[in-house]
Amino acid sequence: MTRTILLASDHGGFALKSALIQALRKTDCVVEDLGPDCTNSCDYPAYADKLALRLLAAGEDGQSGKVLGILVCGTGLGMSMAANRHVGVRAAVCANEFMARMARAHNNANVLCLGERVLGQGLAQEVMRAFLSAPFEGGRHQRRIEQFETYTQP
Ligand code: RB5
Repeated sequence: MTRTILLASDHGGFALKSALIQALRKTDCVVEDLGPDCTNSCDYPAYADKLALRLLAAGEDGQSGKVLGILVCGTGLGMSMAANRHVGVRAAVCANEFMARMARAHNNANVLCLGERVLGQGLAQEVMRAFLSAPFEGGRHQRRIEQFETYTQP
């Protein structure tokens, strides 16, 4: 299965995004860099929104794992908060390989959020690899993630 990986960042995640793109371009993934293209200060919600819309427009919410996103900011936190405002996006901030594996296996996360000010590039690449290689286990985990979409507004 050829995978498409969408990436975006803000200025605080630009260097790590660039390093991850370089690593991904050595694989058979299709890589789409959604910006920014320089380190000028910018607002992470705009890039989280752009990636989420592109992911959802790809016609899937990550169920098949064919299209996945990676968002990088200083901590990964703002990106995950913003991306998770979109129904169908399951964005997970991961600081180690175990979290990354579980985010896919149990939560079927379709967006990995990383913090450039939290992780060194080597660890971030390992976290990314763990995320991309772990399959969703389905079963009871599918039932649980489906409950996300049943929440009503107050
Ligand atoms: C930018 O300074 C920083 O606030 C941003 O990259 C991110 O960490 C927000 O969650």
